[in-house]
Amino acid sequence: MQLNKAIQNRWSPRGFSKTPVSDEMIKLLFEAARWAPSSRNEQPWTYFFAQRENSKIFDEFVGLLTGNNPLWAKDAQVLIISVMSKISSYNNQPNGKALHDMGAASVSMAVQAAEMGIQIHQMGGFDKQKASEYLQLDTQRFEPVTMIAVGYPIEEKLGSEDQKNRKAQHQTRKELSEFVFQKTD
Ligand SMILES: Cc1cc2nc3c(=O)[nH]c(=O)nc-3n(C[C@H](O)[C@H](O)[C@H](O)COP(=O)(O)O)c2cc1C
Repeated sequence: MQLNKAIQNRWSPRGFSKTPVSDEMIKLLFEAARWAPSSRNEQPWTYFFAQRENSKIFDEFVGLLTGNNPLWAKDAQVLIISVMSKISSYNNQPNGKALHDMGAASVSMAVQAAEMGIQIHQMGGFDKQKASEYLQLDTQRFEPVTMIAVGYPIEEKLGSEDQKNRKAQHQTRKELSEFVFQKTD
């Protein structure tokens, strides 16, 4: 038995090649999110996306990013904004599990991406207020959670120092003994 290959191969690149990501792959990313588990099967996720061919919309998405994120995410082939539904359709009350379930859907997408030989890179660094206005969200009910860059990662040998640092950072993980505790009594 071994760790699932797509889980092993998933990482968050900061460099993307010019190779386009096919519409079929994009659809499969969202299909992967679709099949994620969620509390009461609320599926509290919504995704808005822009392809780089549509440079006007793509650049508007890039304009929502903050910090260093726009510097590298502008090279992605697809940019996505994930939005969670904060209110449960079950009882019209705040859904305390929405953030958890939104994350589960996006990780499902990340694993599917790795399976297909592309990668996604989630970003919390974007202007949520600006994104809400841009997407004309009812902020009582909806909240942007992450922006996600999608594409073929640039091979490490071709990549920048930043890209190499990113790969090294990826490989830093806590040991199981630091976060897994078996209760026996
Ligand atoms: C919710 C969330 C927000 C993140 N925000 C950013 C970000 O704004 N900028 C960035 O470069 N990376 C961001 N990351 C990527 C993490 O830094 C990255 O997942 C982590 O360092 C582990 O590396 P790996 O994904 O390559 O395994 C974010 C990841 C998550 C899940």
